[in-house]
Amino acid sequence: MTAAVQNSSSLVVRLVNGILAIKPLANLAKHQARQMMIKRAEKIGVPWTKEVEKLQERDWTRDLVQVENPQLSYPDYYLTSFHAYENGNLSWQAAFEVEPAAHAVHAKIWPGAEAQGDRQLRQSYHDILKQSLSQEPQDIIDMGCSVGLSTFALQAVYPQAKVTGLDLSPYFLAVANYRAQQRQANINWVHAIAESTGLPDASFDLVSIFLMCHELPQVPTRQIFAEARRLLRPGGYLAIMDMNPKSEIYKKMPTYILTLLKSTEPYLDEYFALDIEQILIEAGFQTPTITSNSPRHRTVIAQVRG
Ligand SMILES: C[S@@+](CC[C@H](N)C(=O)[O-])C[C@H]1O[C@@H](n2cnc3c(N)ncnc32)[C@H](O)[C@@H]1O
Repeated sequence: MTAAVQNSSSLVVRLVNGILAIKPLANLAKHQARQMMIKRAEKIGVPWTKEVEKLQERDWTRDLVQVENPQLSYPDYYLTSFHAYENGNLSWQAAFEVEPAAHAVHAKIWPGAEAQGDRQLRQSYHDILKQSLSQEPQDIIDMGCSVGLSTFALQAVYPQAKVTGLDLSPYFLAVANYRAQQRQANINWVHAIAESTGLPDASFDLVSIFLMCHELPQVPTRQIFAEARRLLRPGGYLAIMDMNPKSEIYKKMPTYILTLLKSTEPYLDEYFALDIEQILIEAGFQTPTITSNSPRHRTVIAQVRG
């Protein structure tokens, strides 16, 4: 019985991947996913079109120069289409739309949450974080910080801490830096690859990774966990919030929705197949705690071993 179920589900996965390999069909799926998100955002009162237009009017030349490391080279897995953007995370359009997109995507996590869904998701992660950490962290790095939503939220939870936000997209970091200026937030933005940050050994008490792992193949995920271990002080923590592959929602998700999701998230199969507990232990952490913090997300907290 179990084998039959596994066979039929792996057949569906192969079928979905086959469909996505046909470019016009993949483009159609991406277009539909994007339209669905914009419509959902406007419906819950998030003015997607107006906000994006406002950001488009700004001259971003100096913002980009402030944050970009021109020596940085990008890994192949990053130079692909993500979230229906042809250039993935390396474009202004993606950077301008991150915030309304987060609100739209998280609006349906809890029934009735709507525009509050994104805030509630972050809160549910922070609640677990606060319960799990034995001491208040003094130095925090937010890996995959994007336009800073997770970074500002962490700073609000730990206002006394020095906070660093790291990302591979200079466009996202330029928007993050602009938002930080608007909020008068003091954050150190770093344009670097999370696998090899170039930051000093043992310089953080908390490495936080919020919704990045599902965007990664397994090899860089392992490298990033090893890098997090190097960056952490004795007793420090790695905290990861992301999609929960064990959630019933993904198990029961209709194939056509899964097709849409996979057309925008190229490494979802690899992420779902990852044994996160095992690779954290291999990277030098104690056995992590894994707690579901929403109907479809989990928080993984791992303390440095030894
Ligand atoms: C879904 S976004 C994260 C969202 C953000 N933490 C938030 O809470 O809104 C994933 C981010 O990870 C970044 N990223 C992906 N691979 C990376 C890598 N190897 N090193 C650094 N950043 C990476 C992407 O550029 C993107 O900004």
